Amino acid sequence: MNCQVKQRNINKEDTEVLVLGGYEDDKNLPKKFQGLDKALGGQLQELKKSGEFAGKNQQSVLIHTQGAIPAKRILFMGLGKKKEVTLDRIRQAMGSASKKTRQTGAQTCSAPIIGTEALNASAAEIAQAMVEGAILGCYRFNHYRSDNEDGAKNIRSITLLANNVKQINEIKTGIRRGEASAQATSLARDLCNHPANVMTPARIVQEAKKITGEGKVKLTVLERKDQEKLGMGGLLGVSRGSQEAAKFLILKYSGGKKKDAPIVLVGKTVTFDSGGISLKPSENMEQMKADMTGGAEVLGAVRAAARLRLPINLIGILPATENMPGGRATKPGDILRMLNGKTVEVQNTDAEGRLILADGLAYATRLKPKCVVDIATLTGACIVALGQFAIGMLGNNDKLKAELKKAGEEAGERVWEMPLWDEYFEQLKSDVADMRNIGGRGGGMITAGMFLSKFVGDYPWVHLDIASTDWSTSERPYVSKGPTAIGTRLLVQFLINHAGRS
Ligand code: BES
Ligand code: MN
Ligand code: ZN
Repeated sequence: MNCQVKQRNINKEDTEVLVLGGYEDDKNLPKKFQGLDKALGGQLQELKKSGEFAGKNQQSVLIHTQGAIPAKRILFMGLGKKKEVTLDRIRQAMGSASKKTRQTGAQTCSAPIIGTEALNASAAEIAQAMVEGAILGCYRFNHYRSDNEDGAKNIRSITLLANNVKQINEIKTGIRRGEASAQATSLARDLCNHPANVMTPARIVQEAKKITGEGKVKLTVLERKDQEKLGMGGLLGVSRGSQEAAKFLILKYSGGKKKDAPIVLVGKTVTFDSGGISLKPSENMEQMKADMTGGAEVLGAVRAAARLRLPINLIGILPATENMPGGRATKPGDILRMLNGKTVEVQNTDAEGRLILADGLAYATRLKPKCVVDIATLTGACIVALGQFAIGMLGNNDKLKAELKKAGEEAGERVWEMPLWDEYFEQLKSDVADMRNIGGRGGGMITAGMFLSKFVGDYPWVHLDIASTDWSTSERPYVSKGPTAIGTRLLVQFLINHAGRS
């Protein structure tokens, strides 16, 4: 989808679908639509009066203009009450609008910057949200389908209409950011949608290689021999039961000054989690092809940083492996020696994410990072605690946690903090090793975070558990059914904000 801006009055815009926003608290047709209404012989007044367009959130009305104005159709999107409007509502309105536009068969649409009356946000922020909603609302994964579902063609272009020259540059910034973050999300969704027989650790390496084409991006892959030499007992232990070799990826984007310490993102990349010898029940096990969401999101975020040429140094780390119950697989009771020298008694081979992240976090220490954020589909306990709409957050640094909280609110991918108190380590004690990899019944998301903290060096660190948000059971305005890649835009926004500060 091609996104652009131009300065144009809505009455004069020539497009297949003109998208306009309306509010529930507008009892009469707002002044700015009166010219349009006149041209349309009072149709808009009529829709308002009859209550057919009350402006409720997610309500929509489509009318044909029959030559009265250059735009062929008008699509009214309700935004609800003005005081309830958020950037995310705007994203959702554009998600629904782009789905509707595609359903009509139209391939172009235009929209003025919506929500400005209701929201204290810049034109750049709104344009970014609009573009994200429009692109992600139309996301589909048809790679393996010969029937092409509903056959509807994709939207070719969306044009944002500026009120004045001054707005144009702001909107351009927003469009660039919106495109980069939505494309990052689409990439992450694609990688998670591909089945595990295709999206193997080796294929993840191929995908990461593509990103090196963006400029200032370099990829290093540690193969099994390298992992053994370094002593990555966590990653080696998890991959033992699989026929697919584990890969340890280091994807480096150098957009900052040489002396700037890097931001490091570590993403859990389990391309299929069967549970290993502690085998999972078969119901919904197919969803475990998306146990690489964290890694996919890190790849997306690094690509977005490169596309936006952010002035930062960024390193993505992906420990990539399958978790399978082969004859050589790690068994309950086995003890692994991890990259930082600590020993772990594996009491449950299904608690594999923390084992590979432990090596990722320990490796990050060697990079002298400014800060480290890890992101992982780590625990079922996260789903129990938070449901589908919040990402779990734990960490050792208030400033970094505040940055992620803010980015989450801006991106509409919000985090919720859980405690990381020493007392919880009691649950991870082992009789035979430095710790065990499970913490018993209570506080499963917290004990997993606590486990990770033992491999974190002396740097600000945040852990994000996205097991709650990574898979949607229903289609939402701009979130597809199945893999959602929620967390990607949070990371991208965090990087954009960080670049703005330094
Ligand atoms: N990948 C799973 C967590 C998960 C579950 C993600 C459901 C998304 C949906 C993780 O590797 C896992 O199996 N965790 C176990 C840990 C337990 C054995 C301590 C869990 O949460 O059940
Ligand atoms: Mn598991
Ligand atoms: Zn897992």
